[in-house]
Amino acid sequence: MKLPAIAPDRLPALLAAMPKAELHMHIEGSLEPEMIFALAERNGVALPYASIEELRHAYAFTDLQSFLDIYYAGASVLLKEEDFYDLAQAYLARAATENVVHAEIFFDPQTHSARGVPMQTVIRGLSRACVDARAQGTSAELILCFLRHLSEAEAFETLEAALPFREHFIGVGLDSSEVGNPPEKFARVFARCRELGFHIVAHAGEEGPPAYIWQALDVLKAERIDHGVQAVHDAALMQRLAAERVPLTVCPLSNQKLRVFPDLAQHNLKRLLDAGLCATVNSDDPAYFGGHINANFQQVFAATGMTAEQAWQLAANSFEASFAPAADQARWLARLQDTFERFAAPAEI
Ligand code: ADE
Ligand code: ZN
Repeated sequence: MKLPAIAPDRLPALLAAMPKAELHMHIEGSLEPEMIFALAERNGVALPYASIEELRHAYAFTDLQSFLDIYYAGASVLLKEEDFYDLAQAYLARAATENVVHAEIFFDPQTHSARGVPMQTVIRGLSRACVDARAQGTSAELILCFLRHLSEAEAFETLEAALPFREHFIGVGLDSSEVGNPPEKFARVFARCRELGFHIVAHAGEEGPPAYIWQALDVLKAERIDHGVQAVHDAALMQRLAAERVPLTVCPLSNQKLRVFPDLAQHNLKRLLDAGLCATVNSDDPAYFGGHINANFQQVFAATGMTAEQAWQLAANSFEASFAPAADQARWLARLQDTFERFAAPAEI
């Protein structure tokens, strides 16, 4: 496809305006401090923070585990179906303003079942928000994630509890504390999920080694790798990911905040694209990492000097990497082309 030339000063606006899919966003990670306090009051939950400012002040992460401790504590205010609806509705409304045309949303049912919240409360609330978003023109799907710091038996129990609601989610994933919890720990759970016809994704190579990415591919049969940025340390793996166009859902601001890279200028997104990988840009946990998807695009582009051509590639990759029907992907690609042509035109005076 022939790309029109775009003036560099129009790049930030183009990044915001271009249609895109978001494929790596944990709904519990979209819970803003304001909503934590509002839900705590609505549900009579006591918080160990006196104010929104004090809570925000605690968001000083040094690595994945220090983030997860606060993230699971924040989710403790989610109790009722309405809470899950409101959370997903707020994310989807915001995503629509950022020109997200399709979202595949992660949720962590074990974070809630541990507090006695029934599976149906979680899934019905989230699913209802997805139905409403579709009616407003944003395509939205759910992906159930297993917490990898918990056991295989607990993952099987979670799957059993979710199966009565299977029409509400399209796939399963694997998240939480990576190092020490390799994908192979969940080989049998994912084999069962494949038999059941679910799409398979897995976090791998965020902090963990390339060996975890190999396992996600070969043992879990993951169709997409979440993060995957550690792949650059293994040339054979990079070749495989490029040859098979295995998508990586990269999250630049998350990687910056959790110190996967010393700073954004050293992020390897450009290198992944240059090596021919199907990399995408996503927000991971926007309420905790300082920005939604457009901030992720704008800040990583500013820090690494990527171009409009790479913007087009990343948006096109997000459609290709999605589990959406081919006809939808083609429609979004045509909209992408239209947006680029609009931005190439001389500015109106
Ligand atoms: N859960 C929410 N965000 C996560 C991340 N970045 N890595 C692993 N598990 C997560
Ligand atoms: Zn994640």
